[in-house]
Amino acid sequence: MQRWGGRFSGETDPRVIAFTRSIEIDVALALDDIEGSIAHVRGLGRAGVLPATDVAALVAGLEALRGDVESGRIEWDPALEDVHMNLEAALEARIGPVARSLHTGRSRNDQVATDLRLWTRRAIDRLDAALVAMERALVGLAEREIDVILPGTTHIQPAQPVLLAHHLLAYVEMLERDRGRLADARRRLNVSPLGAGALAGSGWPLDRAGTAAELGFEGVTANSMDAVSDRDFVVEVLAAVALAMVHLSRFAEEVTWWSNPRFGFVRVSDAFSTGSSMMPNKRNPDPAELVRGKTARAIAALTAALTILKGLPLAYQRDLQEGLPPLVGAIAGFEGSLGTMTGLVATLAIDADRMRAAADEGYITATSVADELVRAGLPFRSAHHVVGALVAAAEQRGLGLHAVEDADVVAALGVADDPAAARLAADTATGERVRRAATIEAALASADLIGGTAPTRVRAAVAAARQRLVG
Ligand code: ARG
Repeated sequence: MQRWGGRFSGETDPRVIAFTRSIEIDVALALDDIEGSIAHVRGLGRAGVLPATDVAALVAGLEALRGDVESGRIEWDPALEDVHMNLEAALEARIGPVARSLHTGRSRNDQVATDLRLWTRRAIDRLDAALVAMERALVGLAEREIDVILPGTTHIQPAQPVLLAHHLLAYVEMLERDRGRLADARRRLNVSPLGAGALAGSGWPLDRAGTAAELGFEGVTANSMDAVSDRDFVVEVLAAVALAMVHLSRFAEEVTWWSNPRFGFVRVSDAFSTGSSMMPNKRNPDPAELVRGKTARAIAALTAALTILKGLPLAYQRDLQEGLPPLVGAIAGFEGSLGTMTGLVATLAIDADRMRAAADEGYITATSVADELVRAGLPFRSAHHVVGALVAAAEQRGLGLHAVEDADVVAALGVADDPAAARLAADTATGERVRRAATIEAALASADLIGGTAPTRVRAAVAAARQRLVG
């Protein structure tokens, strides 16, 4: 007979028992369930619902149970459906009939909502620390390789030179916003549902504020029906997690390309590579690939959370139970991904020469040259046209833009049909001016504004990021 089975005369079909139980997954909530129960019991004492002797016995029993859970000594009984029923039964086995008062003034509906908020809050705190560690690894690599030049791309085609450190700091920015989103979600979820009962509120004058404070909540939920059926905090957290995973996945994707010998920009350490069962030559960035793969799980979890909620009338519906596995899975995947990528970045070897050689291909200083012609008096659209012609000519002759001859520059200026271009073609200093602007160093240095890749700006940005991560 189930613990809720008083009005039933028939037994539950074994298929239903197997189908409805959640103990395999909601054991994850056990410690939070015990914390919630201890606070609830103390609240019952303060409200005069339970005598002090009962409160003391219940709290002592729950604390002992916490020890059992922590040391793995507890045996979860699948016949008892979920973690709440299991712990209540285990408490009774330990301290006797007084355990039967534990559930006074409480429903599993406000109980599980409380557990889930406590669990999610703890998860956010771990994730925040892991995000900081990942940011530190990125900043550490940026500091170590502060002078390394990377051919920045758009459309995967060579675009403009950037510092590798600038590229890495882009991810630091993303991860900082991810931290902010999780912190926002934490603030909103940090209220206590205890006292909401099954849906209507408890029939006892519970000290909701005191119980909430004991559990570290900032306040209490204002509406009992909302409290037991709302899981929008799960959606918020999963949205933040899915987006953060997308950020990690983008970086993981870059690592897979950069470690291909055709690029040869980076070498993933042995510790963060794996081999092939058949091909002895292989060194694969499997961990980075799995980050990409686990991102799918995070996105799926967000979709599941939203889809579970979309058809639910008020108040609690059992569908909500299906929200736990995706939440637990997505957060485990995120934590694992953060730990793995942090180690991968900390041990990543950079081949600065390969990056630099790649930066010398693709005419990636063309924009810098066009800007210089604008400084010399040409309107930008004419300058764009002239440099385009210069690139085409240089490509035909197999030269870099920094190695073109005066005659090439004069010929290119001729395509502009612009009096300013004619003036520049007549000026003997123009060729040298173009060649100077066409160096990687000049192109880099020219992006000298807030958020730009000029080395002085990047050094300042790296220092600011380091400062932020210390405090
Ligand atoms: N395992 C359930 C859940 O996760 C606990 C709440 C059960 N409540 C109920 N009315 N059946 O949602």
